[in-house]
Amino acid sequence: MQRFTDKVAFLTGAASGVGRATALRLASEGCAVYAVDINEAGLDETASLAADAGNAITTRRMDVTSIDEIRSAVADCVATHGGLDVAGNIAGIAVQRHLSDVTEHDWDLMNAINLKGPFFVAQATIPHLLERKGALINIASNAGLMGQAYTVPYCTTKGGIVNMTRALAMEFIRTELRVNAIAPGGIDTPLHRNFELADGIDFEIMQNHVGYRPPSSADQIAAFFAFLASDEAANIHGSILSADGGLTAA
Ligand SMILES: NC(=O)c1ccc[n+]([C@@H]2O[C@H](COP(=O)([O-])OP(=O)(O)OC[C@H]3O[C@@H](n4cnc5c(N)ncnc54)[C@H](O)[C@@H]3O)[C@@H](O)[C@H]2O)c1
Repeated sequence: MQRFTDKVAFLTGAASGVGRATALRLASEGCAVYAVDINEAGLDETASLAADAGNAITTRRMDVTSIDEIRSAVADCVATHGGLDVAGNIAGIAVQRHLSDVTEHDWDLMNAINLKGPFFVAQATIPHLLERKGALINIASNAGLMGQAYTVPYCTTKGGIVNMTRALAMEFIRTELRVNAIAPGGIDTPLHRNFELADGIDFEIMQNHVGYRPPSSADQIAAFFAFLASDEAANIHGSILSADGGLTAA
């Protein structure tokens, strides 16, 4: 499939996991990918994997917590590639803590990366997406749709992404822009593999948000992202689409 010939995508979190898999997937379908992340070594590896598959992607270090860096990276993407068709808010962090152990720093960092960053990426990219009937896709989480113990700040930010997606969808309902979110359950990525459990947690109350099926692969989420970003999903707007192996079905 070459669904993205002559299209341009701006993707955050592209140095690892879902962001990397999405960059590689879109590039393999002919997309000009502008990949950003705070992790430059990881971005180099993504670019090298794309090159191994015969595709060139553009990379740039960008911290999603900096509005200036977001604006400057989006402007550079548009100047380099002549426009923008797809924007992906993929970068994110997750931390598990008992409520009493959450510090102001934890709260501010989680909100800055998982919620403030995506908002300002949306603000910076939407004017360009509007020129090309573009698509904005936010990576939310099952944690934005259900209450999970020991991850109150994470759930708060992902719930915020869910309703930010809907609010943006309504603000631009009279345009051809599409805004959607993917709500994955567990995905086999460094974030998932390195997730540190807090001491003394009650595993029984976690069963509902661990689920029963194995985690998704990053490639499966990237394939879903590519479908949603493509013209095949032309009628999907304002949706929160679960990809969680039935985790939120109960
Ligand atoms: N892995 C899971 O189980 C899972 C489940 C549901 C949702 N998600 C969501 O999927 C998205 C991707 O996560 P992943 O699993 O691929 O994790 P990951 O850790 O593999 O990748 C996250 C990327 O975000 C980047 N990042 C972190 N802080 C940043 C910053 N300040 N500026 C720019 N980039 C920054 C990291 O460098 C990393 O490359 C996240 O939004 C996460 O919340 C993950």
